[in-house]
Amino acid sequence: MPGEVETWKARDRISGRKRPPHEAAWAALGLLRSRRGAEAADAALKAGAAGAVAAAAGLADWQYTNGRERRLGLVHALANGTALALTLASIGLRRRGHRAEGRALSAAGWACMALGGYLGGHLVYRRRVGVDHADHSPKPRDFVPVLPLAELAEDRPRRVEVWDPALRQEVGVVLVRHGGRVYALGARCSHMGGPLDEGWVLEGRLVCPWHGSRYPLGTGCPASGPSTAPQPRYAVGVRDGMVELRRVPEPGEEAVFPEDVAQAAAGKETGGIPLARRAEEVLTELHDLLRGLFARIEALPPGNPERRDLLRTLASELEIHEYVEDHLFYPAVRAVSDDVAIAHSEHRQLSDLLTMTLKLDTASPEFGAHLRALRAAVEHHAGSEERSMFVHAARLGEARLRALGRELEAMLEEQRTSRFRRAFRELKIGLLEGVRRKGW
Ligand code: FES
Ligand SMILES: [Fe+2]
Ligand SMILES: [Fe+2]
Repeated sequence: MPGEVETWKARDRISGRKRPPHEAAWAALGLLRSRRGAEAADAALKAGAAGAVAAAAGLADWQYTNGRERRLGLVHALANGTALALTLASIGLRRRGHRAEGRALSAAGWACMALGGYLGGHLVYRRRVGVDHADHSPKPRDFVPVLPLAELAEDRPRRVEVWDPALRQEVGVVLVRHGGRVYALGARCSHMGGPLDEGWVLEGRLVCPWHGSRYPLGTGCPASGPSTAPQPRYAVGVRDGMVELRRVPEPGEEAVFPEDVAQAAAGKETGGIPLARRAEEVLTELHDLLRGLFARIEALPPGNPERRDLLRTLASELEIHEYVEDHLFYPAVRAVSDDVAIAHSEHRQLSDLLTMTLKLDTASPEFGAHLRALRAAVEHHAGSEERSMFVHAARLGEARLRALGRELEAMLEEQRTSRFRRAFRELKIGLLEGVRRKGW
């Protein structure tokens, strides 16, 4: 800008022009209006106006609000809409050379935008519109009994409560018995706080009764619907006919608490439950999840559209399985097991088989044959890991295996809940299926 001022001064000297005092003052402050400055201002205004497309996100949140939030959202939208109209009018005036009027309109636009911004902040930070409404209590950290298993009917969500001493309140958890397993998720929907225990089970997903978000029972990550945040998950066990729950930590919650350290130092485990599961226990559970998915797909008749949904879940879980083993488990056991190189190449074969299977129509006989081949390959790979590599891994020692187990659980959680990673996997799977649809 100083160079610009020099140019103006030089031009004035040549033309002999006398500037009025206020322009001299602008020049002294280095704020003399220049052509380049005007172009920059116009570009900034246009960029700001283009940014109005971000309003779509607010609109999506607003359509599910009620009462006061709805009215506030309307005023917020009106303020921002007026700001946009004033900005567009200002751009038009500036283009026609009426810069002073254009500046006045954009100043009025800024005032409206300030009001809209304040209301937007109020809606998000005070009224919690568009934020995660689930209860994220980290309790209970050890298994606690909550309900006799006999009282839990198949596909009938049931609410139970666990006590959080830090919050000094009960936290709702919804239990669902489905396909011979019991699942537990936070009872308050992360979208707008709907009661998931009043929802229903459809195709292995728990449906929120308020706006229809669907949460797969195993992962709690929204598969569809307006919700974008996962539900808190709980590990479930059954002892002496009672369902027991333990909160599955979220990323960043894996901290060890002082009482854990004291108990570990005293050679005890927390309430009879180890602080973390061993790595091979975590991976065997993952293998069992894959086996279960194969069994469920094969149990469905060829024409059933749920086959495709389950196949996508299987593809996603297979990807996650390979990722966590390639990045965490195999590097850790390489020193004690010679199986790692062959396991890497088996992962590549599994990927190739999966790619071929995804391309096929799930109702076709070829699909059945490919699925059986993929299942056999996964069974062979998982079985040899369990019989050989996991046995070798025992040489790493108890402490290392539990630390590894903790890292694996955190990585699994991150893989399943990260929006970016999920979107990437869905895109990849969708592209492979797209190849099928286009018949390439
Ligand atoms: S509250 Fe809106 S989907 Fe659950
Ligand atoms: Fe593997
Ligand atoms: Fe494995």
